[in-house]
Amino acid sequence: MNTIDKLLGRMTLAEKLGQMTMTSASYAVTGPVIAGDSTESIRNGTLGNLLNMVGAKHVHEMQRIAVEESRLRIPLMIGFDVIHGHRTIFPVPLAEAATFEPRLWELTAREAARETAADGLAMTFAPMLDVSRDLRWGRTVEGPGEDPWLAVQIARAKVRGFQGPDLAHAESVAATAKHFCAYGPVMGGRDYASVDISERTLREVHLPAFAAAVDAGVAAIMPAFTELGGVPMTAHKALLRDYLRAELGFDGVLVSDYNAIRELIHHGVAGDVVEAATLALKAGVDIDMMAEAYRHGLPVALERGLVTIDEIDECVLRVLRLKERLGLFDDPYRRGSKAEEAETVAARRRLAREAATKSLVLAKNSGALPFRENTRRVCVIGPLANAWREMRGPWAAAGYEEPSITVLAGLRGALPSAEIVHAEGTAISGTDTSGIAAAAELVAGADVVVLCLGEAAEMSGEAASRSSPELPGEQRALADAVLDRAARDEVPVVVVLFSGRPLIVSRLMERADALLIAWFPGTEAGNAIADVLTGRASPSGRTPITWPRALGQIPIFYSQRNSGRPENPKDHFTSKYLDVPNSPLLPFGFGLSYGRFSYANLTVSPEVATASDTIEVSVEVTNEGPRAAEETVFLFIRDRVASVARPLLELKGFAKVSLAAGQTGTARLRLPVAELRFLGLDFEPVLEPGEIEIHVGPCADSAQLKVARVLLRA
Ligand code: BGC
Repeated sequence: MNTIDKLLGRMTLAEKLGQMTMTSASYAVTGPVIAGDSTESIRNGTLGNLLNMVGAKHVHEMQRIAVEESRLRIPLMIGFDVIHGHRTIFPVPLAEAATFEPRLWELTAREAARETAADGLAMTFAPMLDVSRDLRWGRTVEGPGEDPWLAVQIARAKVRGFQGPDLAHAESVAATAKHFCAYGPVMGGRDYASVDISERTLREVHLPAFAAAVDAGVAAIMPAFTELGGVPMTAHKALLRDYLRAELGFDGVLVSDYNAIRELIHHGVAGDVVEAATLALKAGVDIDMMAEAYRHGLPVALERGLVTIDEIDECVLRVLRLKERLGLFDDPYRRGSKAEEAETVAARRRLAREAATKSLVLAKNSGALPFRENTRRVCVIGPLANAWREMRGPWAAAGYEEPSITVLAGLRGALPSAEIVHAEGTAISGTDTSGIAAAAELVAGADVVVLCLGEAAEMSGEAASRSSPELPGEQRALADAVLDRAARDEVPVVVVLFSGRPLIVSRLMERADALLIAWFPGTEAGNAIADVLTGRASPSGRTPITWPRALGQIPIFYSQRNSGRPENPKDHFTSKYLDVPNSPLLPFGFGLSYGRFSYANLTVSPEVATASDTIEVSVEVTNEGPRAAEETVFLFIRDRVASVARPLLELKGFAKVSLAAGQTGTARLRLPVAELRFLGLDFEPVLEPGEIEIHVGPCADSAQLKVARVLLRA
């Protein structure tokens, strides 16, 4: 018998339930606080896990109580939400997805893990892998965007980054893939609402990223708050036990979401906490976060014969094994035992700047960017121009209290000899228009206007759904006044747009000379934005989510199916709207740079392929623009005839090419034929013989893609 099994043999029921409980230490409240003082419970061995505590000193003190004062000396596992950086804040996950750079996805997670571990913590509740196609849903900001294949790549990189090569290492933390699963398609985009989707959508869109996380060795998974067709995820035996555990072989820890076990009562599947705890245990949830349902409900359930001690032991073992894998039994003080070196912190800051720069998506540029060499007077207007807290985005973890760099500060730093004038004009929200006229007057005599608009950080994230995700408050009035005034004086206006989701900004896109999507770039926001505006860096981000023209178009995503009556403006009885085209404002993958790229000579080899082949795809890309820039080349497939109607386009790869002005290069992509499998009528993967179209180009707009064909042989 190994030590963990021996330990289990010595545990009382209360101690076992303690290992199955996680309580907030109230550093950062992410839900209703219901648990009282935890210290006594740690001491008497009835609390094994904490969340929301930071600072190595505090963490070590709690560990000391656990390993020196509790009967069995079991170390604590302490988790924290490190969604996009811990102290150094990286761009929000949706923005990071826009970099299309797996190296960066992994590196930012690695650095976030090192910072988290330096704070004494051993677990994070990230990565968030929920595919989102509804921009009303506030949590869109936390995830990978709309595409399941992209979500898979991000899942792999993030798990590797957080966990490192060895989970026991002092700089590694246990990752938690969340929120399992299909949290994105909540009804009406309203957080926590019902989900009702087809089995095909579940399997094709929402499960793959979690399967990839399991494959990458993710230590923990968190079921979503939602229910799927009437079965809450926290009690979803078929998905948690049969799919995750049995089918995928996931043997890590299932940690409930905040109070989610008790919420089974509200969902209407449990009459009381005893039934709620029973359902969650039967589904295989190991740790009860914040509901106190296991501690209160399971002893009664056990007495009534609703659950068995074996079912409880199974969970306790999984928790103890994770603690063992994290090295907590060997040395609970390993993480956070030495302060980080200044150079480590400085390098991380440089990484934050790189990630922020690469996450910026240039949506429009009719020549206003980059700023001209002789720019002397820059007018920086808008409620987000000098709003450092907003730059961090909605989940700033334990972010340093020192200000993030604002656009105003960034531009002042980048253009020390220019005159930079600033007015807020109006607040982010509210009805006060009194500052608008004066702000518009500032435009007079400027070489360029930088208009910083968007959402407040707290307008996206958890419990932050919006029914009309447009510019809030009086910002449209501000934009109109500034744009009118600038048009009169022929001053170009560059809009820098901050948001945690696509916004409905068709009119702004039409009127502005340039529009830069900044999302929430994090600690280094202003420096990154200034780098792009001044031309020190060419923008290279690509939107990982479709931007609609009108709210009524959602859900809008590039991988829709064709329909029996595809849109035809000349034919009334086809699939379309009367008032707006089907096409989006910005397609998935869209993003301009300071180069101008053309594509030629798409080749695929072999042209006739079988299951074990890998298709080599190559295309020549020429930078016809006046400046060096980087192009992201996307590879989509289309299977026109299959036993199940396939999407119009499906992402299967991307590559980057950096080219000087006038230079031609070759982008090479590899497409294993195995990737062409899809779920057949019986939901089993099939590879059907026939023709597959390979589409290559700058974004998911068919008109801009080159096409080649491959014949699949059985
Ligand atoms: C969120 C989770 C988070 C948890 C702990 C919940 O409200 O849904 O994403 O990990 O709180 O903070």
